[in-house]
Amino acid sequence: MMLKRLLAAISTFVFMVTGFAQNKTTVTSPDNNIVVHFWLDANGAPMYDVAYKNKPIMLPSALGLDIKETMTDKPLPSLGKNLTVVSTIPSSSNTTWKPVWGDVNVIRDNHNEMIIKLSQKGQDAIIFNIVFRVFNDGVGFRYEFPEQQNLKHFIVAEENTSFHLTGDHKAFWIPGDYDSNEFSPNVTNLSEVNAMDPKYAAAIFAHQFFDSNAVQTPLMLKSAEGLYINLHEAALVNYPAMDLHIDKSNFNLSARLVPDALGNKAYLETPAKTPWRTIIVSDKATDIIASHTILNLNDPSVIKDVSWIKPTKYVGVWWEMHVGKSTWDYAGSQNASSFDPKGLKPTGKHGATTANVKRYIDFASKHGFDGVLVEGWNVGWEDWFGQYKENVFDFVTPYPDFDVKELHHYAASKHVKLIMHHETSGSATNYERQMDTAYRFMKANGYDAVKTGYVGHIIPRGEHHDGQWMVNHYVRVAQKTASYKIMLDAHEPVRPTGLCRTYPNWLACEAARGMEFNAWSEGNKPRHETIFPFTRFMGGPMDYTPGIFQLELNYWDKNKKETIHTTLAKQLALYVTICSPLQMAADLPESYEKRLDAFQFIKDVAVDWDDSKYLEAEPGEYITEARKAKGTHKWFVGAITNENARTATVNLDFLDAGKKYTATIYADAADADYEKNPEAYKITKQTVDSKTVLSLQLARGGGCAVSIVPVK
Ligand code: NOJ
Ligand code: CA
Repeated sequence: MMLKRLLAAISTFVFMVTGFAQNKTTVTSPDNNIVVHFWLDANGAPMYDVAYKNKPIMLPSALGLDIKETMTDKPLPSLGKNLTVVSTIPSSSNTTWKPVWGDVNVIRDNHNEMIIKLSQKGQDAIIFNIVFRVFNDGVGFRYEFPEQQNLKHFIVAEENTSFHLTGDHKAFWIPGDYDSNEFSPNVTNLSEVNAMDPKYAAAIFAHQFFDSNAVQTPLMLKSAEGLYINLHEAALVNYPAMDLHIDKSNFNLSARLVPDALGNKAYLETPAKTPWRTIIVSDKATDIIASHTILNLNDPSVIKDVSWIKPTKYVGVWWEMHVGKSTWDYAGSQNASSFDPKGLKPTGKHGATTANVKRYIDFASKHGFDGVLVEGWNVGWEDWFGQYKENVFDFVTPYPDFDVKELHHYAASKHVKLIMHHETSGSATNYERQMDTAYRFMKANGYDAVKTGYVGHIIPRGEHHDGQWMVNHYVRVAQKTASYKIMLDAHEPVRPTGLCRTYPNWLACEAARGMEFNAWSEGNKPRHETIFPFTRFMGGPMDYTPGIFQLELNYWDKNKKETIHTTLAKQLALYVTICSPLQMAADLPESYEKRLDAFQFIKDVAVDWDDSKYLEAEPGEYITEARKAKGTHKWFVGAITNENARTATVNLDFLDAGKKYTATIYADAADADYEKNPEAYKITKQTVDSKTVLSLQLARGGGCAVSIVPVK
């Protein structure tokens, strides 16, 4: 503490004697590879730049906010000019913490921090801080507004943070839509981004709020010199998500916050702080996906007893609806306005029947799965979609052919947990009114995990999935579920920002274009999952729902010619390359029963890890990773590729020296090909040790999964 104060005094003194405009405060990473400068320009405007290994990665870039009065909407003096530095307070931290679940069992948080206390000039000056934390793999910075007489509550009209890049980097991007992140990731240079071109913006909810030059984060960039740069945010709470607007004349990217129904960005009451803006950088692609900086910038868990939080592998009454074998609704959508469960006969295609759910429970129990998700169990699916109705579902009224009590007892007798589904159809107001009732109903009937969903326009009307109101809603759901000891999986929320550290019951989110698109759209490209670790997964785990074995879709629908753009072996590898404590085996029991030898990998693979090795990666091209299952000596390797075949060379030097292991290799067959022969695989076994180097052959659109188990 003494040292901290002394350093603070010295740094303030240095600042004062060295003058004002152009004098820079420097913050470096513990290894000195990253150097951040902060200064006020001649107009008193806050600026920063960043260098990595002596090369600039952010040119001088603007900071600051424009604010307004909450009652009158009148502009308040800007927090982006006429500022003075009051003091600068440096500190350092080098600690470790244990995540409840994750890719490793211990995370190091080693950073240098600088709090820069700023004040407006003149009378009634507002004070605020800009805080930088610099890690060995990146930078986080945020704005803090202390409690003060001159600023009690205010509107954020605009945040003027910018990221002035050094050139026309290659970008892995999705359009800056306020309501959906379910786009195929695009790969173009920044100068070619066109978020309004349907070629780049095919999503289920493409809204009209586009700026053709705006993209969402996490934005992955690669410079011509081969530097990998990731821009995102951490700890998004009580604030809207940040999109980035690209100025193509100079590659300055500026924050573009998602507005509320009135066009304002955020309402804050002091004390307040914004989310961290994050810049992860390395000359190695694998360092980006191995980074824990976003988690480190989030607050520790607020849940003290975490014993009820269990990483979960599950199956579900789900894919069968997406491929059209059965329906969510009981009585057929044409009966929308006249649905009466007593008067109507079921269509005969309803998926969530007691008998069908029992079939999945039996399958889960036989093969060692923890849970069974059931969608389409509650009244309302006749007219849930595209209606913009406030009250569609009540979350406690089952269809007449779904026996809640009987299934509760049946699942318990088979040691399987049922997973609840709450589709809100975007009506968050309705959900908020019913949450307590819904969670009490869940607990009374043996459920301790819920999958939520926000398909469609948001109610309150005019709010967006990614605006401040909904950001707060998702957090309220995480808090409320935690208070009931319920684990959470949110579909269609804002993209995650590491809040799973603070709320470890929030096992996963969708927040990206998942497997479901392969059932009913033009499908995901072979490169799809080679990009996600660099984009969507930077903020936390995804419920991607891998494990599809029936890859030719005409099996389900004679009119379909498509195959899903993957091989079967790649579906197995995804259980390793997608790190999530919640993983589904998404295909139907009958698809697995036909291929039990390949299914063995899904049964064996872990969902929680002691360690992870990020062996090789290039966004859009390939990824090879190895993970050690928690509390065991078993390793699992996953290698995936894009539309090009390749050889993944895997050095097993991470195995314990001198120990023998049996490796079971689930590979693409020699003639496998994602377009022509996707389901061809071969399984081989060999004894390996830490000196073994495996050479894994991946087909076009293919992959390889390996389980490595110590020889007894
Ligand atoms: C979209 C979700 O992502 C999907 O998993 C779910 O089945 C449907 N909505 C219906 O709620
Ligand atoms: Ca979805």
